[in-house]
Amino acid sequence: MKQLYPHSPTLPLIGKMDIQHNILLIGGRRAEDLVAEFGSPLYVYDAAVIRARFRELREAITYPNVDLHYACKANTNLAILRLLHAEGAYIDAVSPGEVFLALTAGFSPEHVLFTGNNVTDEEMEYVLDRGILVNVDSLSQLDRYGRLAPDSRVSLRINPDVGSGHHDHCITGGPDSKFGIVIEDVDQARQIIAGHRLQVVGLHAHVGSGILEAEPFLQAADALLDVVRRFEGLEFVDFGGGLGVPYRPDEPRLAVRALGARVSERFHAFCHDYGRPLTLKLEPGRYVVCEAGMLLTRCNSIKATRTHTFVGTDSGFNHLIRHPLYLSYHEIINASNVEDERFVYDVCGNICESADFFARGRLMSRVREGDVLAILNAGAYGFCMSSNYNSRPRPAEVLVDGGTARVIRARETLEDLLRGQGEF
Ligand code: LLP
Repeated sequence: MKQLYPHSPTLPLIGKMDIQHNILLIGGRRAEDLVAEFGSPLYVYDAAVIRARFRELREAITYPNVDLHYACKANTNLAILRLLHAEGAYIDAVSPGEVFLALTAGFSPEHVLFTGNNVTDEEMEYVLDRGILVNVDSLSQLDRYGRLAPDSRVSLRINPDVGSGHHDHCITGGPDSKFGIVIEDVDQARQIIAGHRLQVVGLHAHVGSGILEAEPFLQAADALLDVVRRFEGLEFVDFGGGLGVPYRPDEPRLAVRALGARVSERFHAFCHDYGRPLTLKLEPGRYVVCEAGMLLTRCNSIKATRTHTFVGTDSGFNHLIRHPLYLSYHEIINASNVEDERFVYDVCGNICESADFFARGRLMSRVREGDVLAILNAGAYGFCMSSNYNSRPRPAEVLVDGGTARVIRARETLEDLLRGQGEF
């Protein structure tokens, strides 16, 4: 058995993806067999990779008092939430739906932090009724929160005036961002807090997603810690998520160990000055689940024109929207014919839109109709951003753990398209 990209430090999966007789294996299972058993298209996740990434982060933070709140927007499958619960993760939730799923998966309310945007009073009540701490995003929300829950504990999301991300759409800090309380408004926030006798127990910042360098994190951390100095009696500081993973084979990995050590060192020194050992929180989403997942899709038609060879599949941007939305690169492997002569292909879906591509102009091992393609790094922001567009059901999800594959979400059926309709 040989390993894919044996010399690449950017190996998409941690040695769990192997080739046997020119066929791709995932967690020891043949991709083609998984599709034969569970159908196509199919989301497949490797539990060992999720565990390994989570543990890697935990070990990277040398500061002793750390909570890792998995940002479950990246992937809210219940089985994955349960797996991470067993690993000791906490949760970052952004909606009542995510709170509901996290509690259903077994997380205790005190291990969930709610960071919503443009939140209604009803949503805050839902969260408060369940004993979950609210991380407030604006002065308006803070005042409404104070009226709903005077004398209670609260956390504040600060826009540290630093932003970064793999695409403009994924920058969540800085002057153009809609998120958080800007630093100029912190005094006003303090007045609202005093008016409702709130106790601020934490400050939070999240500057963007898919960041592969340490600098933006460190800059944002410094800006946030400057604000922290203005608040007494805090319990935690939450530096958000955003840790990127390489999508292209030649992209370097984020040096998480070095970053973890630098953040830990700074925080340690800061707490010494602050006078008490605060808890350090992080909210990684993509880093934990992205590389564990792939979307398997079968090629059903190949169309060669004067200028292009279109590889047509049975999936589309209704199942994985990251290429049309952010022009994201996803490595694609022909799981049925891993190494053969290479050709340039445009890999597309079955959706009636011209942006329905997984990759354009991609050099890939020869594709034949019937081959199964593996679209890598689909564990984060894949299934959870899928839709029923063109009235196509969503794929099943399968988790491979210890060589055993099990369905963790059933494939949707045509009947599912009727849900909530028809009785009127
Ligand atoms: N915390 C907060 C408050 C967030 O808004 C996010 C992501 C995270 C944590 C987790 O960020 P991560 O560690 O996953 O980078 N759909 C986009 C990503 C949007 C991320 C939104 N917020 C994509 O597919 O690239």
